[in-house]
Amino acid sequence: MKVITFLNEKGGVGKTTLATHLAAGLARAGRRVVLLDADPQGHATLSLGVEKAPGLYDLLVRDARFQDVLCPADPTRFCLPDEDPQGALHLIPSNIETRSIPIQISDAFVVADRIQELRDLFDLVVVDTPPTPSMLHGSIYLATDALIYPTKCEYLSFDGLSESLTHREMMAATRERWGMPPLQVLAIIPTMFRPNTLVHTENLHQLRERFGEKVWPPIALRTIWAEASTVGQLIFRFAPSSPAAADAESLVSRMQHWLAEPPA
Ligand SMILES: Nc1ncnc2c1ncn2[C@@H]1O[C@H](COP(=O)(O)OP(=O)(O)OP(=O)(O)O)[C@@H](O)[C@H]1O
Ligand SMILES: [Mg+2]
Repeated sequence: MKVITFLNEKGGVGKTTLATHLAAGLARAGRRVVLLDADPQGHATLSLGVEKAPGLYDLLVRDARFQDVLCPADPTRFCLPDEDPQGALHLIPSNIETRSIPIQISDAFVVADRIQELRDLFDLVVVDTPPTPSMLHGSIYLATDALIYPTKCEYLSFDGLSESLTHREMMAATRERWGMPPLQVLAIIPTMFRPNTLVHTENLHQLRERFGEKVWPPIALRTIWAEASTVGQLIFRFAPSSPAAADAESLVSRMQHWLAEPPA
């Protein structure tokens, strides 16, 4: 089992959109996936049509059992009408109580320890995080194998990216002290990209100069993403032949390669 976390300390850059589509796309393709909603906004929870609930809070603070917290996701949200997912998608829901987790927990390894209970049952845990950093981020850094940073090709998103990378560096020392493997930056994904604008193309160029192959193909700005979410569906269901669905599929297949690699 591997754990991947979506991060960017700038809000509204596509973390939840990509986390939910990656988790659902891999479940369609045969993987057993848990989507862990670590954001008090509970947007990943809502995107899968589940009611907001203190799933993560119950796990970490009230020591709940996984079987009482994991919610199976409804395939009609993300599969075609005549399709069953070849794998499975479960959600650990979130609500406003997630915000008080940092003041309730003292063990930085609590997320890592709890997630390990899932290791024989699932192939992947996908973590969606809020934009505001907290001590919960610290625990997530100790529980994750790799990070994906969605970013707009704009100044403030780059600032969020750079703040996030600084925090990753700070946690790298803690991981090393505990004999853990380095925390991999798997990808920086330009989102809501407008190829016909100078500002986005120039900023993408800069991103590639700095991070090279870690910068994955940009995901274009398309209204269809918001349209799908408005009717409570993921893009695979709402517009399976759209260019947006092709972008999501391409992310899924890149992740399949990563999942096939042996752990660090
Ligand atoms: N490629 C895209 N083109 C157009 N709209 C998009 C695209 N990707 C995401 N969106 C829309 O942008 C909005 C913000 O996306 P999302 O909620 O995924 O960002 P976020 O980084 O999770 O935000 P937060 O930091 O608040 O959690 C949503 O309404 C979503 O539907
Ligand atoms: Mg979000």
